[in-house]
Amino acid sequence: MEYDRGNRMDVQERDYVQHLFGKHISKGQVRYLRCAHLDIYERDRQGCTVVDAVSGKKFFDCFSSAGCFNVGRGNPKIREVFQKALDEWDMGSHHLLSEPKIRFAEKLASFCPGDLDKVVLCASGADACAGAIKLARGATGRNDVITMDKGYHGHEGFSLSANGKDYYKELFEPLMPGFHIVPFNDLEAVRKVASRDIAAIILEPVQGEGGIHVASQEFMQGLRALCDELGIMLIFDEVQTGFGRTGKMWGMEHYGLVPDIMFTAKSISGGLYPNGAVVYRDIRALTDYVEKNPFFHHSHAGGSDLGCIVSGAVLDYLVENRVWEHAAEIGRRFKEGLMEIWRENSHMVREVRALGLMIGIEYKYEFLGALMADCLAKQGVWAVYSGNAPEVMRFQIPITAGMEEVEELLARIRAAVNSMKIYLVFLLPLARIPLFRKILDNLKVQITTFNLVRDLEELVLKYVLKAQRFRR
Ligand SMILES: Cc1ncc(COP(=O)(O)O)c(C=O)c1O
Repeated sequence: MEYDRGNRMDVQERDYVQHLFGKHISKGQVRYLRCAHLDIYERDRQGCTVVDAVSGKKFFDCFSSAGCFNVGRGNPKIREVFQKALDEWDMGSHHLLSEPKIRFAEKLASFCPGDLDKVVLCASGADACAGAIKLARGATGRNDVITMDKGYHGHEGFSLSANGKDYYKELFEPLMPGFHIVPFNDLEAVRKVASRDIAAIILEPVQGEGGIHVASQEFMQGLRALCDELGIMLIFDEVQTGFGRTGKMWGMEHYGLVPDIMFTAKSISGGLYPNGAVVYRDIRALTDYVEKNPFFHHSHAGGSDLGCIVSGAVLDYLVENRVWEHAAEIGRRFKEGLMEIWRENSHMVREVRALGLMIGIEYKYEFLGALMADCLAKQGVWAVYSGNAPEVMRFQIPITAGMEEVEELLARIRAAVNSMKIYLVFLLPLARIPLFRKILDNLKVQITTFNLVRDLEELVLKYVLKAQRFRR
């Protein structure tokens, strides 16, 4: 069967595509998405919305591929630069010098605070995390690294070892040695582990996958002072917090201090071409190491010519449109709207946290995150709970969203929360019993139950349609 006839798909085509996806990629992923009505096929990717090829329904993209689409889905200006670049450039040879690499590195450095002036070109967030850790280890001659509980830096080698959730790591042990996980925002805990054997402390200014936890000013200042005292490299992961998301160009700008190394990716190239970067201070320990070991971190895709051209265009767009100011403004309204929803539903919502357009709503029970994802999908909102904190639903809409779109989105979120209430009549009393709570929070139980409900729904729909046709 032909399965990609342009923009729309009927149900038979969808089933066939799902079958092929299951056969060649992963049945588990199909089941996972299907159970939350998130087996959608993104078409008309524009601004902050996509249209599902099967239902034709408009979805607000509140996931943004965990922070890739700050400048909007398929931003026409960036797309135009990319299309033009394809006439002249390819990825380029990663060993050679090229104007796109040089121009992009210069531009990126010029938008970074303080003496963050030197760039290592990378292929992704996890790759950039590895580059940052290698740089800190190489420059200090030390091995150990302090990272944060619930922190997330990627799914590979170094970044997986730095991950603050055991669930992702257990299957792959032994991982890299020397990683110490401490509670976020707990300076005393860091002090207990910090010593002259530690190469680096890594953290996100706002934890994304960890459930939108904002680092406190005292914590950040304390870390900076501790690192200065013990010769530790302070590393900020700006993969999600960079490029305007938090209401400033970089998350670090909220604190008025500069790390020794920062790394970033994702929105660096507007969701059009992969890219990433480590930016480090122009200080002797770091620059000497890189000058002596210029190939200490590289890959064919890291800082490709095409990636650098696209990233340069993203930086121009961000600065010309002062996108971070827009993030701050609509972020304020978005947070206010979610606070209203919280006040109306304090029996199930614990808290709303936000910095700019990095926004999360925390539920009192973990399983409510999964239920909320499903109820949101039915209202045309594509959002997922935080990977390292399932009780927190994240909203990371592209920053190009207008105020009217934010109002429409808030109305849909309110409708989703209201539609959850019917389930809660029997789920909340059950959740108070520890054994049932464990069952409800279990991901396998959630996937099986929600898939059964979905099967039932589709069966009923099939018979209703048949009956309607028969009557006609
Ligand atoms: C804070 C943070 N760091 C690093 C990464 C890893 O980025 P990538 O998926 O490009 O490897 C992510 C991805 O979600 C992230 O959120």
